[in-house]
Parts: sequence; structure tokens; C-alpha cells
Amino acid sequence: MFFMRRIVITSGKGGVGKTTVTATLGRDLSFAGFRVALVDADVGLNNLDVVTGVERRVVYDLCDVLAGKCRVFQALVQDSESAMRILPSSRGSDRVTAQAFAQVVRSLSGFDFVLIDCPAGIEHGFHRAVSAAEEALVVVTPSASAIRDADKVVALLRSYPLKDISLVVNRVRPDLVRKGDALSAAEISGLMRVPVVGVIPDDDAVGVYQQFGGRADSTYSDRAFKVLATNIAEGRKDLVDVSFKRRSRRGIRRI
Ligand SMILES: Nc1ncnc2c1ncn2[C@@H]1O[C@H](COP(=O)(O)OP(=O)(O)O)[C@@H](O)[C@H]1O
Ligand SMILES: [Mg+2]
Repeated sequence: MFFMRRIVITSGKGGVGKTTVTATLGRDLSFAGFRVALVDADVGLNNLDVVTGVERRVVYDLCDVLAGKCRVFQALVQDSESAMRILPSSRGSDRVTAQAFAQVVRSLSGFDFVLIDCPAGIEHGFHRAVSAAEEALVVVTPSASAIRDADKVVALLRSYPLKDISLVVNRVRPDLVRKGDALSAAEISGLMRVPVVGVIPDDDAVGVYQQFGGRADSTYSDRAFKVLATNIAEGRKDLVDVSFKRRSRRGIRRI
């Protein structure tokens, strides 16, 4: 039987790495042989097209699909680095209803994964993106404000009929964790009572390459993103943390 997994990547707080995680996870799943589509749900402040380097090739967008100007498959653009497809959002007004959006997402038949890049905040845009998904990935950075926002988002997510809610801890600084100056992914997971499926280090290469629509050629964050993709593909929750030197009693491995 054919399965399409619809996963929303959300956070509450802006700038924590939702779009980065959406694009990189999508590419890794595509490299692993899965058929992947990314949907930019950030109507108005969309940038998934820029991050994936497809901005100049966009012809139609989500609003054109909804207005009946084109079919959803005509609006899909192929990623600059992989076989995955991107459904761009529009920079226009934000009048897309949750129902119409969910219908477009569900019409993406033939894809193994549809990853939905959620806008910041917990308003209509959040509701629209989450309503179209069956699973949620909450991106959080190890700062008190990001954790507090993510916590609120998790509480909200629990009111939706989602099959799974997991955490991706992004921009981890292993040096600070080892000194005890930052919470570890395991500690954040414990505080929030949500399992971690990805621990991504803070890596300058991520931002530098992103400006050109590419992906960081860095084994450092690359390996961490691969672990995330494996966890997602296999439905596992292995906590592989960049901050630890050796296998601990709790089974946390260093990569
Ligand atoms: N692991 C990381 N290491 C370094 N910079 C990162 C990392 N993840 C994201 N960034 C940077 O943080 C900024 C915000 O990321 P973005 O994915 O656009 O966040 P959001 O979609 O949540 O607003 C970008 O400039 C991006 O390059
Ligand atoms: Mg974003």
C-alpha cells in the first residue's frame, strides 16, 4: 500500500532553523531514494524557494494552484541539488484557508514525504500548516526563549490529531554544553517531554552556503542531518548528540 507522510516543521519562534531543517531533511530523504515534496506554508514571508536555489525558476505558486490557474504538478519546481520538488508559496496576501491548503497538500500524490515549512507564530498560518499534516517536527534552539516558545507550540500541537510530535534541537554548541553553559538535547527533551530525533550543531557553513541555494559542504552538520533523516525514514528516535564524547549510560552516542 502507498503511504504519503505529511510532516510539518514548526517552532513558534522565528529564525530557529525551520526552513533550513525542511530543505536539508528533504534533500537527505531524496538522496536516500524517497520521493520528496516541500511545501512553503509561509505565505507572505516565504523563502523556501531561495534556500533551495529555485527562486528564479518559479513560474506558478500555491495561490495560482488555489486560483485554478494551474495544476499542482505544474507549480512544482525541482530542487537545485536533488530530485525533490518544491511547491513555492506566494508573496501575496495571506487569504489561503486551512481547508484549501490541506487539499493541495493531499493532492501531492506519488510522494513518499511532503514536508511543510511552517511560518513563525501561532496564528492562522500555523493552524493552516499544522492542519495539513499528520506528524510534527518542532525545531528548537538551546535558548530559554526558544524552549519556552517551543513548549507552547507543543501544547498547541497536542490539540491536533497528530500521530507524532518530535524535537529537532538546532544550533547546538557542543563546547557550551560540555562546560555546562547550555542545556543538552537530552535535557531539553526531558524538560519538554518530547523525544528528540535530530541534534544539529551550530555550523557557520550552513548559513554561508544557504545564501546561494546550496547545502553546506561540511561533514560536521552533514552527519547530524543524516541521522535526522534516518530517524525520520525509519520511524526511530535515536538521540545521537554532537555534544557528547563517548557513549554514555543512557545510550547517547557522539557523532
Ligand atoms: N545549524 C545551523 N548552524 C548555523 N546557522 C544556522 C543553522 N540553522 C539555521 N541557521 C541560520 O539561521 C538563520 C535562520 O534559519 P531559518 O532556517 O531561515 O529559520 P526559520 O525558518 O525558523 O525562520 C539562517 O540564516 C540560517 O542560515
Ligand atoms: Mg523560515
